[in-house]
Amino acid sequence: MSFNELFNLPPNPYFLSHSVGCLAKKSEFSLAENFLTPWKLSGGDAWQHWLRTVNLFCTSLGQLFNADSADFCPQTNLSSGFTKWLMALPKNTAATAKRKVLIHEDAFPSMGYVIQAMQQLNFEIEFIPASESACNIDTWQRYIETDIHCVLATHVHSNTGEVSPIQSIAQICKLHSCYLAVDVAQSAGILPIDLNCWDVDALFGSSVKWLCGGPGAGFMWINPKSVEQLQPIDVGWFSHCDPFAMEIKDFQYANDAKRFWGGTPNIAPYALALGGLQTILDIGQASIFAHNRRLAGKFLQTVSQSLSQPVDLQNNGGTLCLKLPDTRILAISQGLKKRHCYFDIRANVIRLSFHIYNSEQEVALLTDVFNQE
Ligand SMILES: Cc1ncc(COP(=O)(O)O)c(C=O)c1O
Repeated sequence: MSFNELFNLPPNPYFLSHSVGCLAKKSEFSLAENFLTPWKLSGGDAWQHWLRTVNLFCTSLGQLFNADSADFCPQTNLSSGFTKWLMALPKNTAATAKRKVLIHEDAFPSMGYVIQAMQQLNFEIEFIPASESACNIDTWQRYIETDIHCVLATHVHSNTGEVSPIQSIAQICKLHSCYLAVDVAQSAGILPIDLNCWDVDALFGSSVKWLCGGPGAGFMWINPKSVEQLQPIDVGWFSHCDPFAMEIKDFQYANDAKRFWGGTPNIAPYALALGGLQTILDIGQASIFAHNRRLAGKFLQTVSQSLSQPVDLQNNGGTLCLKLPDTRILAISQGLKKRHCYFDIRANVIRLSFHIYNSEQEVALLTDVFNQE
């Protein structure tokens, strides 16, 4: 069986997995089997099945990232998880001291908005300028200084494709005793991620893109070494160490990442996303990555002379962010539209993603457009 049969694919070449990954067929079954059917058959008794589904989602994330399921907590999206985490960090000893959060200008805006809003709680934002390469460890070395309270590093940048060297950034953060949170929205499912090796403080991700799980099934991972220092403010009965204790005067945090869970949890997005995640695990992240690199390498071989800036695949995520002169970007985008391709453009960058369901024929079609237009 071809891997393409595992997904519902649009009728024309789909290069938008950095935006929304295609719906896995298993997701439709999983939504029915793990959410709708238990509800139909057993009403409120469905909770047992529903909670097992979320647990299975966390276990599957653990398999993907080499981590324990207890250290993951569902979150609607990255920015809400990041907000909760910042609010939960231990305060400085001086209550008035500013808490500087370092972020690269090429990070996804949602994460920068969080830090700006958190200025109300004495956080301060510091940017690494876009002119500084995020894949160069020297950049991080120069900007992570002793006055930095926390770093938000984006594993793969959505508009440049650049990969941040997370494990090395983590080492620098440790030297300066600052926290490190990582955004894996654009890398989960396509790049290798080993949380045991990274040893960062927190990780935020979603199922929307390479995990082919749709919106609403975000997640956070909290390093178990430091979880007990964190005191989330946005809580609910599922943040309690015993959600069914029902003792209003006695709130006690769960002793793992679930302290960030909150009130009555969402189930449907996780039942859906579980199908995508299991599909990715069945195929294997390494196989998807190898396929991506094969197609990207082939494509770049034939078009690199027409780009304003070369792409260095060594330091690139799953998406090719191709910088083109203004005169060519219009012609190429018209050529792609004529052939009904799914792609997008940010400023003078065309973004193209090759997932397991993309083929060599599709790459040949792209190459034709780039060479003819
Ligand atoms: C790198 C990166 N981070 C975060 C997000 C999404 O953030 P949120 O889940 O807060 O909407 C995206 C979405 O495109 C992204 O590319």
